[in-house]
Amino acid sequence: MEKGTISFSPPDISELEITEVCEALRSGWITTGPRTKLLERRLAAYVETGRTDIDCDLPKNVSKYSNRVACLNSATAAEELNLRILGVGPGDEVIVPAYTYTASASAAIHCGATVKFVDIQKDGDPVTHCPEMDYDALEAAITSKTKAIIPVDLGGIVCDYDRIFSIVEKKKELFIPIESDGSPLGDLSSRIQQAIGRVAVVADCAHSLGASRVFNGEKKYCGAIADFTSFSFHAVKNFTTAEGGASTWLSIDGVDDAEIYKMFQLLSLHGQNKDALAKTKIGAWEYDIIGPWYKCNMTDIMAAIGLRQLDRYLGLLERRAVMMKKYDAVCDELGISHMIHHTDNMDSSNHLYLIRIPGITVEQRNEIIEKMAEQGVATNVHYKPLPMMSAYGKDCSEYPNSYDYYHNLITLPFHTLLSDEDVDYVCFCLKEALKEFNG
Ligand SMILES: Cc1ncc(COP(=O)(O)O)c(C=O)c1O
Repeated sequence: MEKGTISFSPPDISELEITEVCEALRSGWITTGPRTKLLERRLAAYVETGRTDIDCDLPKNVSKYSNRVACLNSATAAEELNLRILGVGPGDEVIVPAYTYTASASAAIHCGATVKFVDIQKDGDPVTHCPEMDYDALEAAITSKTKAIIPVDLGGIVCDYDRIFSIVEKKKELFIPIESDGSPLGDLSSRIQQAIGRVAVVADCAHSLGASRVFNGEKKYCGAIADFTSFSFHAVKNFTTAEGGASTWLSIDGVDDAEIYKMFQLLSLHGQNKDALAKTKIGAWEYDIIGPWYKCNMTDIMAAIGLRQLDRYLGLLERRAVMMKKYDAVCDELGISHMIHHTDNMDSSNHLYLIRIPGITVEQRNEIIEKMAEQGVATNVHYKPLPMMSAYGKDCSEYPNSYDYYHNLITLPFHTLLSDEDVDYVCFCLKEALKEFNG
């Protein structure tokens, strides 16, 4: 076969996104404004219904789907604000799987909390093979200091939230909600912790926009399962706004969604009680600063990309599903383990294609990656476990299942700009690399 050039995960941007960005640029409003607000409503409608075609400009849908999504400039910011709204801070513990990207843990560290890593199940979940937390270890890790758990829907596969919620309910007795310190944020956090009354489930759904799972006996989309959720719209994700992300949350008894939404606005915009749009109203220049907070709002240029991506998103997911079947068939033929993205009770967003090659060492895995790169095929590794990284102590000895999962893992290129021929070429190069390696 002729040598190809297969990128790992370039963004799929059509003329629709380009036109919408140009319109945003010409509109005279380029920072957070009408496009960001519309994207928030449409994402809220999507995570509640699975539909991307609900007209959220209609007055009735504006009120119905407006409050429980806040668009921001990254998933990292979304997770950090989720934790800050929950009142997570110094002295608190946050449980994170050892097998994830740094942002799942660093957002908690930014808040001053201590991260407690939990190993994954040996070879991942028995059905999906996804590197999900060892739920017995999770249960054992919860103490009276634990304030949040960050499950990660790796590659788009939705974690077992029924199990996670049953664990936090079971450990309810240990939970000590914070008292209000009298500040607007401290008061809100205290009311949220009192109302939830247990460790909060703060999902890292950076990979899983559009994925769903039967939860409490009902099909639910990511964003409508955990207490708080963060999504990533980074350039390599299924759905992109170049950089970007969003927070969603479930309604909390006795706490108004609008109040939580307002707190996201304050935290993401310097604690300023009027955004740029509100200040344009005649005579409305004066504002207050409620807290010395952060700057991580989404711009209308980013939202313009997102609005048109959302129009195309169900089609993009379908294309991913078709390509995935091809990879599955080849891996099954070669005896290579891969994640199962669809089961009776779960549909992944088909974000990443992870394979594990039996019987090889880390060095041999790296050799295969190099051989594929020589043939023009970019691959990757999701992930080197966090405890192996310098920032987290470079010691994975307490997380043997994470190390084992990582040591023979390769992530194949997987995106919607791949043609059927490209997918065949990747499979051909994989077979060749394995053949040479075996020979
Ligand atoms: C699992 C996971 N969580 C969080 C993030 C952070 O996303 P962002 O770059 O939008 O902050 C990423 C990014 O790749 C990720 O893979």
